[in-house]
Amino acid sequence: MPHGTWRNGFHLMPPTGWLNDPNGLCQLGGTYHVFHQYSPDWPAPSAPRGWGHFASDDLVHWRAVGDGFAIAPDTPDEASGAYSGCAVPVEGGVRIYYTGNVKEAGDFDYVRDGRRSVQILVESPDGCQMGEKNVLLRNADYPAFCTRHVRDPKVWREGDTWWMILGARDVDDRGLVLVLRSDDGLRWENAGTVRPAEPFGYMWECPDRVELEGREWLSFCPQGMQGLPWANGIRDQAGYVPVAAGSRVSEGAVVDAGAFRRWDCGFDFYAPQTFVDESGRTILIAWMGLPEADFESAPDGMAWCHCLTVPREVTAGAGGALLQRPVAELEALRGARHELAAGGTLELAEHRADVLLAGAGRAGSLVLDDALAISWEDGTVRLTFADDRVGCGRDERAASVDAVRDLRVLVDSSAVEVFVNGGELALATRWFPRSERLTLVQRGQALLHIWEMGDGMAGTY
Ligand code: FRU
Repeated sequence: MPHGTWRNGFHLMPPTGWLNDPNGLCQLGGTYHVFHQYSPDWPAPSAPRGWGHFASDDLVHWRAVGDGFAIAPDTPDEASGAYSGCAVPVEGGVRIYYTGNVKEAGDFDYVRDGRRSVQILVESPDGCQMGEKNVLLRNADYPAFCTRHVRDPKVWREGDTWWMILGARDVDDRGLVLVLRSDDGLRWENAGTVRPAEPFGYMWECPDRVELEGREWLSFCPQGMQGLPWANGIRDQAGYVPVAAGSRVSEGAVVDAGAFRRWDCGFDFYAPQTFVDESGRTILIAWMGLPEADFESAPDGMAWCHCLTVPREVTAGAGGALLQRPVAELEALRGARHELAAGGTLELAEHRADVLLAGAGRAGSLVLDDALAISWEDGTVRLTFADDRVGCGRDERAASVDAVRDLRVLVDSSAVEVFVNGGELALATRWFPRSERLTLVQRGQALLHIWEMGDGMAGTY
């Protein structure tokens, strides 16, 4: 199958080169901005890493902004990368906070020595023209218990006070979050930590904070998790914990890592970031990839690597859980509608579909291209690859809920996202179908509604 057909229709991906974390998510004057970690020169060794940029008026139809870096790693304080960060809309524009990463030449472990982590501010009137870079914080400014790994600022305001959280690794190799406060968003002071009661991973990356209905959740990506029974041997995980009623992230807190829930139980999900859009919705976008895994994400010499999830609206669920549903805007891409009864088969010309199943029954399955089965039985949902040329190292993932009531499956040319019970469970995976047409086979008692999906990326590059 030609590589071109693995280009997605509604999952953001780079034209060529490498993409990882979503960065700087925001909505300004109606326009949505999605920045991301970007190495246009990948797979060249040590390809510089900075920020790429997409914009959209509706979260569905995207345009690339510029054809290179939106933020280039072009100062000595980010010589090894303009790393992840966030955007804070302000009057007259937006403030972008991110980490400059510098690895010094020499014989260093790059944990306790040889690395600088600098927090940088760039202001922009419109998200597109970038002002000068201002270094706000250097390693000497962080608490003495920190190693050199301090990064990924998330900044927000509460009343007149600005707050920042940073992911960090302490000298005892424990992951935690640093909390800083500021009166103006420019001069910052340390204001505490958010830590687990018991060690939970050696480093926490990409901290974030969700506030819904007056409650807070701390989202973070702990590293060093491969030994845990639910971790599928994967070092880097992404999840959240509810912050205890009565305490605030900004006040520093001890969180119960035992309450950690993965945002997504599929193969490809990391570094999620949330933002609140102009209508007040909390929207999450994540990297559909992992820093370290045995899966292949650019098979057969593809010239681009990785994509982002669709925007997911986050709402509060029962018992401290957060629900994630694809934003309603995605339905604008729906085209011809089909129904598929139990035992039926449907063939579509493009590998793009939105599949809805209401009333799932005790057990059933949807098989895509005879290669990827999405199955459910007694509350357990599985993704199973029957063809490794399509899975490229991905085999099987399972996750459970009390009972599977409904299912939504978004199928794109090389990305699949499954949402169960109105977003109680999500499973994202890359897939690399080898056939020209998409075949859907369903086994179960229910009726599937299937829409062909249009291409929101058309004309992006
Ligand atoms: C997470 C991460 C971040 C860092 C960025 C570098 O995937 O390692 O901690 O800022 O990627 O690209």
